Amino acid sequence: MNILAIESSCDDTSAAVLTERGMQSNVIASQAIHVKFGGVVPELASRAHQTTISQTVQQALNEAELSINEIDLIAVTQGPGLMGSLLVGLCFAKGMALANDIPIIGVNHMDAHIYANFIDAKPEFPFISLTVSGGHTQLVHVKTPFEHEILGKTRDDAAGEAFDKIGKVFGLEYPAGPTMDKLAQSGNTKFHKFPQALLREGLDFSFSGLKTSALYFVQDQEEGFIEENLNDLCASVSEAITEVLVKKLKRAVEQTGVKTIALAGGVSANSMLRAKTEKLAEKMGVSLHIPKITYCTDNAAMIAITGKMKAELGEFDGMEIRPFASL
Ligand code: KG4
Ligand code: ZN
Repeated sequence: MNILAIESSCDDTSAAVLTERGMQSNVIASQAIHVKFGGVVPELASRAHQTTISQTVQQALNEAELSINEIDLIAVTQGPGLMGSLLVGLCFAKGMALANDIPIIGVNHMDAHIYANFIDAKPEFPFISLTVSGGHTQLVHVKTPFEHEILGKTRDDAAGEAFDKIGKVFGLEYPAGPTMDKLAQSGNTKFHKFPQALLREGLDFSFSGLKTSALYFVQDQEEGFIEENLNDLCASVSEAITEVLVKKLKRAVEQTGVKTIALAGGVSANSMLRAKTEKLAEKMGVSLHIPKITYCTDNAAMIAITGKMKAELGEFDGMEIRPFASL
């Protein structure tokens, strides 16, 4: 089965082709336009998707050396995401499916982050996924394919949002997560102790207190202090975010008794989180799966693999399929 996948839920337009030989292409067109606004502007995102989607899909087909006539299935993100952005990808996919008589499958973007782990590996069910992105932070008990129980989630900001918003307070460009990660690598995690919320309480997360604390900390400093100590501050914030994530992940493993854990979503690209999770897995004697970096942040390859898994279960959609912003 040759699968063409399309992802356009936020600010990356992506198309991928998956065949029996593996992932043949995964083209990602990122939108630079949002940087000057310090965050994604939904209206601009939809317009940019509309401009780039044809060439992104064509490039994915070209790199896979396939024509649309050789595609057996179109998998497309149905939600969650920005409504305008989702509409562009879904309408394009429906048009292609209708014109070429190809079946279509709608994919949940958050499921896809989890199943990105199946592109290069075969995690055993059941497992716990720590799904951490710009919009979500969830501990998911993945019992069998697509049978999920959300054990814990954030009560306010997502982990990626915390990286981005605190980075902005430090003067970093959007999205600040990857830059924070880089700077933190040569910083001192003990430079300042930022708060770690809800540590003794259940499996939910909260990052808004950390954000406020970082804001007050910055306001209290003399001019030049933040720039001079940027690496240490990034390391201290990264420590606070990743410690909570890993401690809650540990608790979820203890509560469920699963033998496998996985990381998913854009924040799983974070080097401190990856290192801490590796240590945790070793200590607990559980196996760990982390997608390679390009499959962590938004991409269509994860939509392709999830579409394939849904096709194997016979979960096809019809032409009435429509997007759901809060799927
Ligand atoms: O999954 P994703 O690409 O998009 C959403 O579905 O939200 O996640 C994007 C988020 C952003 O907040 C970005 O700053 C964060 O993931 N991120 C990182 C890293 N790479 C991406 N955060 C920390 N360290 C990174 N290396
Ligand atoms: Zn995402």
